[in-house]
Amino acid sequence: MAKCGSENDYDTHERGTGRPIVSASLSDQRRRCRQLDKITLFIMHILHVVGARPNFMKAAPVIRAFSERSGFTQTLVHTGQHYDVNMSDVFFQQLGIPEPDANLQVGSGSHAQQTAEIISRFEPLVLERSPDLVLVYGDVNSTVAAALVCSKLLVPIGHVEAGLRSFDRTMPEEINRILTDRVADMLFTPSSDGDKNLIDEGVEQKKIFFVGNVMIDTLVRMLPAAKQHMASDVPDHYALVTLHRPSNVDDVQWLTKLMKTLQEVGRGIPILFPVHPRTRQRLHEAGIDSAAFQSIRFMEPQSYLDFLALQMRASVVITDSGGIQEETTYLGVPCVTVRENTERPVTVEIGTNFLVGRNLGRLRETVGCILSGKMKKGSVPPLWDGHAAGRIVDVVQTSEARTK
Ligand code: UD1
Repeated sequence: MAKCGSENDYDTHERGTGRPIVSASLSDQRRRCRQLDKITLFIMHILHVVGARPNFMKAAPVIRAFSERSGFTQTLVHTGQHYDVNMSDVFFQQLGIPEPDANLQVGSGSHAQQTAEIISRFEPLVLERSPDLVLVYGDVNSTVAAALVCSKLLVPIGHVEAGLRSFDRTMPEEINRILTDRVADMLFTPSSDGDKNLIDEGVEQKKIFFVGNVMIDTLVRMLPAAKQHMASDVPDHYALVTLHRPSNVDDVQWLTKLMKTLQEVGRGIPILFPVHPRTRQRLHEAGIDSAAFQSIRFMEPQSYLDFLALQMRASVVITDSGGIQEETTYLGVPCVTVRENTERPVTVEIGTNFLVGRNLGRLRETVGCILSGKMKKGSVPPLWDGHAAGRIVDVVQTSEARTK
């Protein structure tokens, strides 16, 4: 990841070969420390792990923030949990994320298979690269798998987006969140409810850092480009839909009813529906023919910029995604979340999000209210300001200084 390391003050690349200093052991790196104006500088090796679509927009600003400071070298590992061009590559391109140093290419599988594959392929890489700190993001299988590996190898772990809880252990992501937070050494929270949840679970206060929302860092940076970016065939008013949670798409009967409700909503306003690969598969398996839903426009999964452009102009967003609840709150766009709970309560309490549960009557009613102009005016939660990643680097820098 040559673009990643700072090249300003001193070497992040080996002399002669030009290779980035990423595979050296900690003691080797320490030996490379140089006296500069009587100040001893250490190069700290940060290894980032990403795997699935929602990780990419969280890691991008953190990688950038570390590369803007001196004293760090970085390695980026992609587990390959998401592998399609439109679920992965296009995000790297648009968000300016450097090419990963390693791709574990685990692909799809059951939760156990996918997690186990990541664990067994990631361990040798950590042993070889010997990072000083591993940063994991969000709540996907790649997050927990990497955290488990590092905890056994006694490699310090930072969890970006720590502390979120839906209190619903039927969600695979909730298990991933709890386990990752249990083993992490630095817990970077996006909102104060995260701090409270961690304290309630007995995590020491000194490990918790309320830094704000890194996903909003990416949104703030990309917003000017998104304003210039819009496909010409999009209607003036529309509802934007995304669904991929097992609770919505794995149960055929529920999925069928949900689709019929969307079709009804679509009689009042055109619906744009970028379909996640998991959802496409389930619709196909359930024999649900998209041609039968004339008021719904089914689309391929969108790139970051295309989707942000669609979100910011939508009259309403209907979703079960975690990140979209946050992005709509920042944008002030009404969001209807088809879930019984949310690990992001701040989006309901002070943002523009409405939780309608598995209640299709409430879904219709809430969309109707929003479209008739009766909606709450949300505000942006504290520290969702575009600078969360910089605060993470500050914390890491300070803690490194403390350990010297
Ligand atoms: C994962 C995350 C979820 C996140 C979502 C965003 C976990 C437990 N879940 O769910 O939190 O909100 O990503 O997208 O980690 N597939 C493809 N191409 C791809 C990726 C997936 O076709 O590039 C298909 C495969 O058939 C796969 C299915 O989608 O079986 C589900 O993918 P998987 O990564 O297992 O979980 P997601 O549902 O995407």
